[in-house]
Amino acid sequence: MKITKRPRRLRANKAIRDLIRETKITPDDLVYPIFVVEGKNRKEEISTLKGNYHLSVDMLYEEVKEIRDCGIKSLLIFGIPDNKDCLGTESYSDNGIVQRAVREIKKNYKDMYIITDICMCQYTDHGHCGILTEEGIIDNDETLDYLGKIAVSHAKAGADMVAPSDMMDARIGYIRKQLDKEGYSNIPIMAYSAKYASSFYGPFRAAAHSAPSFGDRKTYQMDPANGDEALREVQLDIEEGADIVMVKPALPYLDIIRRIKDNHNIPIAAYNVSGEYSMLRTAVDTGLLSEDAIIEALTSIKRAGADIIITYFAKEICKQLRIDS
Ligand code: PBG
Repeated sequence: MKITKRPRRLRANKAIRDLIRETKITPDDLVYPIFVVEGKNRKEEISTLKGNYHLSVDMLYEEVKEIRDCGIKSLLIFGIPDNKDCLGTESYSDNGIVQRAVREIKKNYKDMYIITDICMCQYTDHGHCGILTEEGIIDNDETLDYLGKIAVSHAKAGADMVAPSDMMDARIGYIRKQLDKEGYSNIPIMAYSAKYASSFYGPFRAAAHSAPSFGDRKTYQMDPANGDEALREVQLDIEEGADIVMVKPALPYLDIIRRIKDNHNIPIAAYNVSGEYSMLRTAVDTGLLSEDAIIEALTSIKRAGADIIITYFAKEICKQLRIDS
């Protein structure tokens, strides 16, 4: 029998597989999220995010050194303040937790690329991502003012890029305007454009103490059942000035990543969120899955079309890649 097409020929040995491999994860693709807390000398493992820590500002020197040594060049910073109030005042204070963390990292590591999370849920006493009306409903337009102030204060502290995760309408345009007005027109915005109202954020909310004290986030985050809507959200954010758009979570939304890739010409970030991390972490740690499942999962995110992957696996994957290469 003569078989003319033999795709397996190109899988027959490692060298040829390496030559034709379409998608490779490298440390250049990864952003590592870190959680900064108040106090001194604190490095406490986050029980819901094994291998990740709550760090006080004074501990960042050592931690960021380790992160850099792994080959990671970008960080996404989340702050967890002690003081919360209904206006999330700490979020835009020049002496807030994120602002201090950014200054500390930039003082020691100028080349570390720092992205800051712009949101209010860690800072409001009710845990919602914006300002509430007296009736307890999020006031979208009132919230924009605060988001603008947060972004400017982060830029002032030395952040390289801001990433609004709040999901208020029109915030990208508003933040862009405020940054430009204050002289930060060179600071890019990574928009959480397609952020779903997902159950996969559970471990993060425990880690960031940001679960809403009542209700849920369905009035501002997207319905997991919708795909076309994600394209509309992305379109609006691009029109408002987003430099990078994000899909979040990543693994249950690979189709969304691919559709954005096919429909828009803009860099895409995907957030491999806390629930995705915890599921895989548990499966690998209990021996149900081999460690290779991690790189397989991350590769699928890149193959779907993501340029940037934000992941709690960043450190260990970079160590792994170093051993393999
Ligand atoms: C805050 C925010 C959340 C995450 C990132 N920024 C939680 C939420 O929207 O409730 C989740 C990240 C993760 O699960 O790893 N708006």
